[in-house]
This record gives sequence, C-alpha cells and structure tokens, in this order.
Amino acid sequence: MARNAFSFPGNVPAFRVFHALLFLLLLSPISAGHDYHDALRKSILFFEGQRSGKLPPDQRLRWRRDSALHDGASVGVDLTGGYYDAGDNIKFGFPMAFTTTLLSWSIIDFGRNMGPELSNAVKAVKWGTDYLLKATAVPNVIFVQVGDAYSDHNCWERPEDMDTLRTVYKIDKNHPGSDVAGETAAALAAASIVFRSRDPAYSRLLLNRAVRVFEFADRYRGAYSSSLRSAVCPFYCDVNGYQDELLWGAAWLHKASRRRDYREYIVKNEVVLRAGDTINEFGWDNKHAGINVLVSKEVLMGKAEYFESFKRNADGFMCSILPGISHPQVQYSPGGLIFKAGGSNMQHVTSLSFLLLAYSKYLSHARKIVPCGETSASPALLKRLAQRQVDYILGDNPLRMSYMVGYGTRYPRRIHHRGSSLPSTQAHPAHIGCKAGSRYFLSPNPNPNVLVGAVVGGPNVTDAFPDSRPYFQESEPTTYINAPLVGLLAYFSAHP
Ligand SMILES: *[C@@H]1O[C@H](CO)[C@@H](O)[C@H](O)[C@H]1NC(C)=O
Repeated sequence: MARNAFSFPGNVPAFRVFHALLFLLLLSPISAGHDYHDALRKSILFFEGQRSGKLPPDQRLRWRRDSALHDGASVGVDLTGGYYDAGDNIKFGFPMAFTTTLLSWSIIDFGRNMGPELSNAVKAVKWGTDYLLKATAVPNVIFVQVGDAYSDHNCWERPEDMDTLRTVYKIDKNHPGSDVAGETAAALAAASIVFRSRDPAYSRLLLNRAVRVFEFADRYRGAYSSSLRSAVCPFYCDVNGYQDELLWGAAWLHKASRRRDYREYIVKNEVVLRAGDTINEFGWDNKHAGINVLVSKEVLMGKAEYFESFKRNADGFMCSILPGISHPQVQYSPGGLIFKAGGSNMQHVTSLSFLLLAYSKYLSHARKIVPCGETSASPALLKRLAQRQVDYILGDNPLRMSYMVGYGTRYPRRIHHRGSSLPSTQAHPAHIGCKAGSRYFLSPNPNPNVLVGAVVGGPNVTDAFPDSRPYFQESEPTTYINAPLVGLLAYFSAHP
C-alpha cells in the first residue's frame, strides 16, 4: 500500500504546489448560497421514484404506480418491493444493500441535522430493509436479484408495464456469495441502529437477521460473481473480491451489537486491507476506505486502541484524495469535481465526500488533524472539500447547472431513466411495449416525468455534460449516488 507515495511535479517545493492548488480550489465560487434543505428533501424523495412493488398511500411521487407485483412468484416466494437500482427495472440485491447501508449511515451520523426530513429518510431505509428481510427469510439462502438484465436492457418500458423476464436469482450453500451476503448483513445491522429507539422490535429483527446472514456469508465462502456469473456480470460483478464485504459486515455488526467476537474478527482480518492498491476506494464494489473510516470512529470517539491501524489507513485515505497532489486514484476536473475512471462518476463524488465529512466530524470530536507527509489536513479542510463537491453538484460548476433533477433552474432534462422518460400511466394508460418505447428513448424532447432529486452520473473529466439519454454514464441516476448525499446535505443544511 502506497500510503505516503505522493509524487509531485518537477522540482517545485511540494508544499507550495499543494497550498496554491488548495487555495484556488477553496476560493472557487462559494456560490449564491445553496438551499441545502430543499436539496435534502429532494434527494430523499428520489427514492420514492425507484420503488418497486405496491406503493403505499403516503407515496408522494405521484406519477409512479404499482409495479412488479408478482416478483418471486415463479419460485413460490414473495419478493415484491425494494428498489430499482437506476434507470432500468431490475432489482439488483448487491447495490440495493449497499444503498441501504449508506442511507443508514447517513441517518446514524447526520439524522439529527435532518429536521422534518428525518422521518422520510427512515422510510427510505425501511423500503430497503423490508425487502431485504424477504430476500433473507429462508436460512442459508439469499435472493439476490429479480429480473433478467439482458431482457430488461433490451426494452425501454415503464416498470408499470413490464413484461420482461423476472427471473429470480439466489445464492445458497452450494452457490455461495460472501460479497452480496456480507453487504446484506451490513445493511441489516446498520439499519438496526436506525430503528433501535424508533421501533425496538423491528430493530431486533434486523439485528438477528444480520447475525444469521453474516454467519452464512462467512461460513460458505465464495463470490456471487462466480456462482451467478452470467446473471450479475457485467452489471454488478464484484471485481475486487468478497473479503472486504465480510470485514464491512463484521464492522457494522460490531457497531450494532458491541459483541466481542466481531471485534476479534475485525482485528484478525485487518490484513485484508493490506492487499493491493485498492485501499483508497469506496463504492458498491469496494468497501475498503469505508471500513477504515467507520472503524476509526471507534478510535476517535471512543477508546478502541486495538483498532488503531484502521485509523492510520483512514488518515492515508484522506491524504490520498486531497487536491493538488498527483496520485493515481483520484483526479479533479478543471472545475473542481472529483473524477475517477469508470462509469457513473458521481457515485465516487458522493461516497468519497461522505467519508471526508464523516471523518472530519470524528476528528473534530477528538481534536485531531490528519498528518499528510509535509503537510496536514484539518477537520475544517476536509469539510470544505466535501462541501465544495456538494456545491459543484448543486450548480457551482463551469456549466452553471445542477446535477440534481428538479433543483435550481438548469438541471438534466433527458435522464436515462425508463419511468421518467416514458409518459406516465395517467397520461398514457395504454400499454407501451418493449420496442414501442424506443421512440421515447431516442426523442430529443425533455422527459415528461420529473424524477425530483435524482442525481445523474454527471459531467466528464472536462466538466462537459451532454444531457442526452443514450449517454447513460453521464445521464443515469442510481440509488447509491443519492444514499451518501442524503447525509452530506443533512449536515450542510444545518451548517451552511
Ligand atoms: C467530454 O464531453 C465533451 C462533450 O460531449 C466531448 O467533446 C469531450 O471529448 C469529452 N471529453 C472526454 C475526455 O471524454
């Protein structure tokens, strides 16, 4: 691991390059002031647009209707509910669990900053956990996906009209999936904390299920990307292995249960984090940096010196994403946006910014700073970096547009999202078939249904954005872009 392997350009003193760039970054327009609370409300409302199953009477996003009411029936189980991951109509269990974990973390750390939106955020978690409880109802089995992604992606259909294959995929003892099972355990454990005082019985149910799911994940080891390769790859293939999800699951179970055996598991398996150069990543595939920040909270806010190595890792991660330092894993666009290779860049922006903000809070509590070679990073600096990313999303960028649909006056109008881009069932009650939807996909017109709060994949590395449906990497929203953003917006709405 290259914790201190910074490379600086030429022979300019490193600290001067660093400070000059940081100075520019932080001076860049501190905007007309954003309405973070409005953005928070919208970021949570987005999850209602992604709901699958029977919609409840208090559904606020009204152009959506019930969908996929027979999911699971082909194998004799009820798998209705849950979330569509993005602009398609598949229920992918792996990113759904990650989304639920991050929404829970947002509430655990920043729920007290949410004001009246807290109850909506809790409902968004419960829509995920109610489904995950169904998916894990049978011991040693997890239903990890509903819908054949090839069949779905071949059509441009509203979820309400779906007639594509709703194939059900599961893992079990003979077809293990420690990646998706570990993440599911993490989601259930994290959510059990959210519900601890709100609904103690539900919280206990979640925690007990998390314990059982983790045991299954740990005992029957393997990658769901091998067991279910043709179904889950290349969509949510776990490229970086399942060891990180096991450690992540244990970390959340430790936090939720305080049981000593999880603590011992975490200490014993820290070695997982020393393997390779992916330690500074965080997303639905790779949990490394998230584990380090989460476990460091116990070091900084408690007295868990046995977890000290996680804090050193978290410090190294913070240093690795500071702007002005040339490093292989993160770049900044000319307009100041974090940029990483691969699709849907905004998922990295929101998840890394969440870690910056969360760590900043833990450091402040402990009155600590992050040592970074010749310089250091204060909690206030980490927080400003996170805020700069949020402000970029909301409109402080070269195109002067918001990347959150329905926020501000300029925002993406042609998002890659089936339900948003096809006429609603109220406007057009007749069925629109698989290929009949293509003309809406190809149309240059704005989407008829505003998916309020959706944050899209965002601009490319030159800050350019096409606002065009076929450019899915730029114009598709996902649940795991929004989940950490909910926590960020909550904090900045209370500390603008
Ligand atoms: C970014 O997008 C713009 C406009 O679509 C395009 O001209 C440019 O080549 C893209 N740059 C990269 C590096 O992809």
